[in-house]
Amino acid sequence: MKTYNDLPNDGGSDIAGQVTRQLSRLEERLKSVRHTVAIMSGKGGVGKSSITANLASTLAMRGNSVGVLDADINGPSIAKMIGVRGAKVDYGANGVKPAVSPLGVRVMSMDLFLKDDETPVLWEAQTQKDAFTWRGTMEISALREFLSDTEWGVLDYLLIDLPPGTDRLPNLVDLLPSLGGTVVITIPSGISQLVVKKSLTMAKKLLNTPVIGLVENMTAYVCADCGRAEDMFPSGNTEEMARQFEVPFLGKIPFDPRLSMAADNGNAFVEEYAGTPASRSITKIAQKTESFFNRKI
Ligand SMILES: Nc1ncnc2c1ncn2[C@@H]1O[C@H](COP(=O)(O)OP(=O)(O)OP(=O)(O)O)[C@@H](O)[C@H]1O
Ligand SMILES: [Mg+2]
Repeated sequence: MKTYNDLPNDGGSDIAGQVTRQLSRLEERLKSVRHTVAIMSGKGGVGKSSITANLASTLAMRGNSVGVLDADINGPSIAKMIGVRGAKVDYGANGVKPAVSPLGVRVMSMDLFLKDDETPVLWEAQTQKDAFTWRGTMEISALREFLSDTEWGVLDYLLIDLPPGTDRLPNLVDLLPSLGGTVVITIPSGISQLVVKKSLTMAKKLLNTPVIGLVENMTAYVCADCGRAEDMFPSGNTEEMARQFEVPFLGKIPFDPRLSMAADNGNAFVEEYAGTPASRSITKIAQKTESFFNRKI
């Protein structure tokens, strides 16, 4: 397949030049970001966004300057979870200013540009059927713009919340070859693990991206009254999976309805419910993420 650079004639729009200029802007912009971390899982609905939001808040509470890029262009949820939904987007001399959460986390998401709850992201084309053909390419362009046109400022960590799908990481690595690491999320069901194994192969073996570790979310339901923990899913051994892929196991996060409630209210669960088992587990995952990078320096 031809790339932009191979096209002999682009009708004078200089697409190749535009993309090249944007990529060098992206490189320049990310010079002030110390570590980039992708939160991923081939599987949908396993808690990637919830963990991204809470990991970002935890890292910020621990004194880091943190940004979050919501790479889920079509189903953005980070802005709501982190409490910046509806924030007015400002434009500075040097790009778009990210929204800032009460804990100081800088957030960029397509959600900040949508006019109401019901409007989906629509790409311009003659018909929406035509737009389908280009959707993948346009989503990658949107991601490239979010990375390069946002005034991230100096960040210790830029967390990137990926949508589900094994193909998402290669797309990101294309834009961001210097990706610092990935945190891979699964739930303990056999079905989830079947899909997540493919993502681990993609991250570790095919792309050779550093895997910070594997997280098991929604491990058990802890009864609020008696404190008894009941397994949420009957099968799957995430620690064994981590051993099989020779990646660190970062921890288990129990199911806690208050985590979902806090996200719906735009509050940081880790702050509101500090000291709960789920919050303590997220704090340990944040510490292990910090150690991963400190060890490498
Ligand atoms: N440990 C948990 N305890 C309770 N609820 C949770 C937990 N983790 C996630 N949830 C809830 O599960 C739902 C799915 O979580 P989330 O949106 O974070 O998943 P996702 O992997 O980002 O989904 P998608 O693949 O659509 O991007 C949300 O309603 C969230 O609040
Ligand atoms: Mg998500």
